[in-house]
Amino acid sequence: MNVITPAPKALLRPPPVLPRPNEPCWCGSSEKYKKCHKEADGVFLREERVRLEKNRVMPGVVSPMREVPLSIRRPDYAATGTPARGDGSNVRTAEELVRMRRACAAAARVMRITGEAVKPGITTDALDAIAHDATCALGGYPSPLNYRGFPKSICTSVNEVICHGIPDSRPLQNGDIVNLDITVYLDGMHGDCNATFLVGEVDEESKQLVRVTRECLELGIAAVKPGRPLNDIGRAIEQHADKYGYGVVRSYCGHGIGSVFHTPLQVPHYYDARANEKMVEGMTFTIEPMINAGSHEDALWPDDWTAVTKDLRRSAQFEHTILVTKDGAEVLTVER
Ligand code: MF3
Ligand code: CO
Ligand code: CO
Repeated sequence: MNVITPAPKALLRPPPVLPRPNEPCWCGSSEKYKKCHKEADGVFLREERVRLEKNRVMPGVVSPMREVPLSIRRPDYAATGTPARGDGSNVRTAEELVRMRRACAAAARVMRITGEAVKPGITTDALDAIAHDATCALGGYPSPLNYRGFPKSICTSVNEVICHGIPDSRPLQNGDIVNLDITVYLDGMHGDCNATFLVGEVDEESKQLVRVTRECLELGIAAVKPGRPLNDIGRAIEQHADKYGYGVVRSYCGHGIGSVFHTPLQVPHYYDARANEKMVEGMTFTIEPMINAGSHEDALWPDDWTAVTKDLRRSAQFEHTILVTKDGAEVLTVER
């Protein structure tokens, strides 16, 4: 006699929003949820939480702040940790744009150099050293260093870390994803970009997350147009992330940038009715969507910097500094 055992239901990932017990199951069986996948979903989610807790990123040892040669021009906060407010303008003059292009091109170059060093076994502190030295070699100051007291020259955010991870002694592991966020202060202007890299052999789910997050940035950039409200950008990003059931981080936004690292101008990556300021030709700001495999919710490590997903599932991010042009956007953070 042949007994056909059905595949165990617990192997399937339940959807982000679960049905009520008496509603039809999400699997399409037309049975009530409580009679179908409810129990299996509970097992799946409990087992996954245990696995995620066990594999979570742990803080390592943070090395001392790196030195910047005295010949390099520093931003106002380099000594004190506290940035001045600046003039609040988000529209650049032609002369400012010349300097801004140089700062942004330098950031893109440091990104390429540092990205090439990503591999299993290298510590995030070693990546910080590479980026720091490459920035100084170009005559730039690594903007994160002592910005509001941040202790390192770049941000390195691994797996469930959303952003602002502090480089430390943790070696990258085969299968990790890591975001490098690199900002360079050069010629009196900041250029800010970030990208997520695959470390060795990475699972298909994470590869999709990284690909879709890159697409979110591209779609956000494509929504830039003078005369349109800023929230067109978040709408485009959220629409794409929604198709995959991904969460769009709400606690951290893109920002105006220029002689000041973060101007008060905020660029949300979800649709926010309040972000109705119109884009203007000559504006410079970043777009930097953080996309979570699961819930959009974030939590903070006790170091008061490292932002992680609340559900410990992975998060990816890409960032460019962009200029609003006559009919669209120019990406400034490219190598020249
Ligand atoms: N580069 C980050 C951004 O995209 C900001 C880093 S601030 C730091 O806005 F202090 F954490 F470095
Ligand atoms: Co950045
Ligand atoms: Co930024």
